[in-house]
Amino acid sequence: MSKDHKNKMWGGRFSTAPADVMLAFNASLDFDKRLWQQDIAGSLAHGAMLAKCGIITKKQGASIARGLKQIQKEIAAGKFVFKKELEDIHMNIESRLHEIIGADAGRLHTARSRNDQVATDFRLYLRDGIDALSAHIQALALVLAKKAQTHASDIMPGFTHLQIAQPITYGHYLLAYVEMFSRDMARLSDARARLNESPLGAAALAGTAFAIDRKQTAKALGFSHPMANSIDAVSSRDFAIETLSAASICATHLSRLAEEIVIFASPAYGFLTLPDAFSTGSSIMPQKRNPDAAELIRAKSGRIIGALTGLLVVMKGLPLAYSKDMQEDKEGVFDALDNLELSLTACTGMMASIAPNTDIMHKAASAGFATATDLADWLVREIGMPFREAHHITGALVALAEKQGTTLSDIDLTAMQQIDLRITKDVYSVLDVKKSVASRQSLGGTAPKLVKRAAQQWIKKLS
Ligand code: ARG
Repeated sequence: MSKDHKNKMWGGRFSTAPADVMLAFNASLDFDKRLWQQDIAGSLAHGAMLAKCGIITKKQGASIARGLKQIQKEIAAGKFVFKKELEDIHMNIESRLHEIIGADAGRLHTARSRNDQVATDFRLYLRDGIDALSAHIQALALVLAKKAQTHASDIMPGFTHLQIAQPITYGHYLLAYVEMFSRDMARLSDARARLNESPLGAAALAGTAFAIDRKQTAKALGFSHPMANSIDAVSSRDFAIETLSAASICATHLSRLAEEIVIFASPAYGFLTLPDAFSTGSSIMPQKRNPDAAELIRAKSGRIIGALTGLLVVMKGLPLAYSKDMQEDKEGVFDALDNLELSLTACTGMMASIAPNTDIMHKAASAGFATATDLADWLVREIGMPFREAHHITGALVALAEKQGTTLSDIDLTAMQQIDLRITKDVYSVLDVKKSVASRQSLGGTAPKLVKRAAQQWIKKLS
C-alpha cells in the first residue's frame, strides 16, 4: 500500500496514510463483505428519506438510488472491485457510488454515521439469518415427527444415567427432540421480534440536527419502529448475543441427539443403522462404519457456544457508545449461523434416512429389567404395599433374576413367592414391555396411542 493513499473517506485531518499493518488490522472488509445487500438496502432507504424530507434534492436522491442499484448489480455479478484500503463494505460501496455518480454520492452520508449504518445492516442480516435457521429447524422437526408416527409403538429402552430405566417407544423418544426444536424456533422468533427495530438515524450516537424521518426508514426496511434512544441504538449488541444464545441452545440439542446417534449406532448397541450416505469408512479397518456426520454435529456446538462466549466477552465492560471492539461482533456470528445451518441440514438428512433396528431395541428393553418399576407399581396397586416396600421387594426379585441370569418374567411363581407370599400369577401381565408402554397413559407419557396422537399434531403443525 502506497503511503500517499490517505483514506479518502476520512483522511481530511490526516497527513499520512495508515501503516500497512494498521490497514490490515483495521479492515473488516474480508468478513463484512457479506453485508452488501443489507448495506445497499439501508442506503436506499436513507437516501430516499433524505430526498423526501428535502435534505437533498429529488434529483440527487434519484441519482444516488440509480448508483446504488448499479452497484447492487455489479456485486451480484461478481464485477465489483473490493478495496481493502477502504476498510469495510460501507466505505467500499460509498466510494464506488462516488465513481458512478460523482460528488452527489457524498450527500448520502448526511445525518448518518457508520455506527448506525453497521447496526442497521447487522440487524437486517440477522433477521434473514433467523428466518433461514427457523426454516431448517422446522424441516428437521418435521422429519422427526414423521418418523415418530411410523415408530409410535416400536419399543426401545429408555435410559437414565445411560442405564436402562424403563421401556419407551422410539416415537416417544424422537418427539422429545421435536419439543426441544420447537422451543428453539420460538426462542429465535422472540429474538427476531426484539431485534427488528431500526437504529438508522441515530447517527454517530447523539442523533442529528437534520430534520430526518426515522419512521420512514424504519418502515422501508421492514423494522417495526425506530429505536427510542440513539445511544442504545449504536451501542447495543444484545440482539446478536440473544440470537447466538438461541443458536447455542439449538446446537446443544443437536449435539445431544448426535451423541445418542453415535451411541445407538455403535455395534455394541446396534439400535440404529446409519445410512451409507451419512457414514464413512476407515482407511485401515474394513469393518468400520463411522458416524462422522453425527460426530461433526456433536462437535459444531463447540464453535457456536464459543461465538456466544466470545461476543459476551467483547461487549462486557465496553463503555457506551461505539468502540471499534464492536467490529469483532461479526465473524463469530457469521460462523455460528453458517455452521448451525450446516448441522441442521446434515442432521435432517441423517435422521430421514437412519434405520431403527426395532427387534434389537425391543430385546434390549426386555433384557435390562426395564419393567422393574411396573412390578413395583403392581405390588402397590394389587397388594396395597407402600411404594418403598414394593421397591425393596422388587429389588430382591431383580437380584434373583440377575443371579439366575434371566429376566424378571422368567422367574417362576414359587421363587417369587419365596420373596413375598402375596405375589400371584397376575404379576406376569405387567412384566411384558409392550404392556408396560401401553400402560403409561398419563399426559405426555409413552403409551403408543398418545405418541401417535402427538406425532400427528406435530406433523400438522410443522407441515
Ligand atoms: N467496520 C465497522 C464495524 O464493523 C463499521 C463501523 C465503524 N465505525 C467507526 N466509528 N469506526 O464496526
